[in-house]
Amino acid sequence: MEFISKNLTETSKITFDFIDNLKPATGGATVVGLYGDLGAGKTTFMKYLAEALGLEEVIQSPTFVIMKFFNLAEQSENARFPKTENPKIKGFQKLIHIDAYRIEEVNEMLVLGWDNIVSDPKNLVCVEWPEKITSIMPPHIKIFFEHLSENARKIKIKFNEEN
Ligand SMILES: Nc1ncnc2c1ncn2[C@@H]1O[C@H](COP(=O)(O)OP(=O)(O)O)[C@@H](O)[C@H]1O
Ligand SMILES: [Mg+2]
Repeated sequence: MEFISKNLTETSKITFDFIDNLKPATGGATVVGLYGDLGAGKTTFMKYLAEALGLEEVIQSPTFVIMKFFNLAEQSENARFPKTENPKIKGFQKLIHIDAYRIEEVNEMLVLGWDNIVSDPKNLVCVEWPEKITSIMPPHIKIFFEHLSENARKIKIKFNEEN
């Protein structure tokens, strides 16, 4: 799927399309890599994704924290994503937001419990700068962000190698 977002409202709506089309992984966490330059819109997408999942004002940009955990199960009553279609938000219980920008070696992720995080099917794990930890990234959904103009961004979502 490929979108051109002309403003923040459109980016917010794209997170709904993303959740709508998302098929949770089986046998492990659902892992998402957010690719793109600084300012391309990765953290902004995460902010709206978190809001769509029922979290409010929790994701900030820029972030100086490598990894943040959010409990979705407690928050799902606030979810903006249509509940009639998806009352349990695809069964995810935790949203984990990782900004790997400052990671210098993958061991920094391993000591944070990476192996357990990516093996739990209840986790939706979203990684900004996955290029920094290529060797430990499991097969993942890829989202490519591109800065087109001040308020326009290209957002391309690859759920698997075919689309
Ligand atoms: N259509 C848009 N979609 C997303 N962000 C946009 C858009 N137009 C402008 N912006 C701005 O672009 C900036 C993107 O920054 P950020 O999400 O932190 O990027 P990254 O995490 O990729 O470095 C934000 O200040 C955001 O408000
Ligand atoms: Mg960012």
